[in-house]
Amino acid sequence: MIDGKFAILAIESSCDETAAAVVLDGRDVRSNVISSQIDIHKAYGGVVPEIASRHHLDNVNWVCQKALDDAGARMDDIDAIGVTYGPGLVGALLIGLATAKAYALATGKPLIGVHHIHGHICANFIEHKELEPPFMALVISGGHTNIVEVTDYNKLRVLGGTRDDAAGEAYDKVARVLGLGYPGGPLIDKIAKKGNPEAVEFKRVFLEKGSMDFSFSGIKTGVLNYVNSEKQAGREINVADVAASFQQAVLDVVVAKTVEAALSLKKDKIVMAGGVAANSKLRAMLQSACEEHGLKLYHPSPILCTDNAAMIGCAAYYKYQAEGADDLTLDAIPNLSI
Ligand code: KG4
Ligand code: ZN
Repeated sequence: MIDGKFAILAIESSCDETAAAVVLDGRDVRSNVISSQIDIHKAYGGVVPEIASRHHLDNVNWVCQKALDDAGARMDDIDAIGVTYGPGLVGALLIGLATAKAYALATGKPLIGVHHIHGHICANFIEHKELEPPFMALVISGGHTNIVEVTDYNKLRVLGGTRDDAAGEAYDKVARVLGLGYPGGPLIDKIAKKGNPEAVEFKRVFLEKGSMDFSFSGIKTGVLNYVNSEKQAGREINVADVAASFQQAVLDVVVAKTVEAALSLKKDKIVMAGGVAANSKLRAMLQSACEEHGLKLYHPSPILCTDNAAMIGCAAYYKYQAEGADDLTLDAIPNLSI
């Protein structure tokens, strides 16, 4: 216990961030250490799983120690260990999970396995102390695009997801086609501000009526075809216009479906989560759609949108309250469903 509150040391290593945090009573973040590998993977234009695992292994011990130090805590003060066990890259997940199990075994403290998406949603509880379920969540990241009905802290129901690429993946691939670099989301966010979102008409894919699923691979191919045909015709590409038009096509669909989901299931709050939730245009569009329909919008600050362990500590707290601890046979599940 720290200051009379239940203290969780949380670890996250599902992709390319090695992260650890100390979180009290779910919402009080005492430390949040993130060691990002973005600069390493940049050279390859995306995350290389083998390299990610190796760097997690190099970093996980000092990241955990720094999380304790930054919180002014010792292992004795910690009540439980929370850790992401899926979904994610299996080799990457295993490093965090093995570390968490080692701490749990050595200290006799409970181990709490956390679903990465549950963590992303819980980032909002840290940011907005008054926020409580029920609400509709849009989870939008490099690995996921889901509309999730949240009826309680630990009760999630997935209403729809992507049938091909995640939104962040489409951003990253389109950025590569446009020669912008990696990760593409923030770069498209920035350059699109200078472009005309109506310059190129990319197809909006809504799928069947009422479906809350997404498909972004068509838009991605649309951008590729457009760029190739313009090049063949000897015309110069206006990167800002293409980026703005791509983004508008993706976000028109995302915003419409999220608002429709909230209205049809009578939720008065929408919560954003995941790396793409940091996107300025998405925030602005969703905000005005929410105002139009009398809904309240919540999103975490950018540092809590992308992968971090504070959100895992929050989710671990609520999971432990509802379900108790996991045992040490807990395994990494790369395609863990909610
Ligand atoms: O949540 P996250 O850190 O990792 C996953 O769980 O996937 O999300 C990373 C994704 C990347 O695809 C990145 O390009 C995207 O989030 N992203 C953004 C922005 N910031 C990060 N996409 C659009 N606009 C942004 N500002
Ligand atoms: Zn994530």
